[in-house]
Amino acid sequence: MKEAIRLILLYAHLIGFALLLGGAVTQWLTGKFRVNTAMVIGAATQVVTGLALAAPLRGEGHEPPTAKLIVKAVLGILIAGMVIPLRKREEISKGHFLGILGMVLGTAAVAVFWH
Ligand code: HEM
Repeated sequence: MKEAIRLILLYAHLIGFALLLGGAVTQWLTGKFRVNTAMVIGAATQVVTGLALAAPLRGEGHEPPTAKLIVKAVLGILIAGMVIPLRKREEISKGHFLGILGMVLGTAAVAVFWH
């Protein structure tokens, strides 16, 4: 049962990642720097599913390192703070936008390479 919950959460977590990164890259290719709906939904999904995935769902000795979870929680919440409050802005600065993109790629790298 726990494993089924973990896999459903991980599935949703990867869809959230796709929405956030895909939304940002697509927006970037338009040349207009703003927060779009895919990025907002993705950023919120990452925090909710990520915190749920941080729950002890894997059995003794198989949980991700606590330090990794803390780093990801902080990065995820920072990204959400850079995205969600700016959803109504017509345009945001190029630096802010590329900051979001860089942090999303960085957080994914933490997820994949830190074991
Ligand atoms: C924009 C933010 C985020 C991105 C891009 C991201 C990306 C990813 C990716 C790509 C994976 C799959 C890695 C793999 O299977 O090896 C993953 C897994 C995971 N993420 Fe995130 N994540 C984000 C936010 C968060 C947050 C806020 C947390 C909360 C602590 C979190 C906790 C986890 C956990 C626990 C897993 C492991 C799932 C498992 O294998 O059981 N993530 N994340």
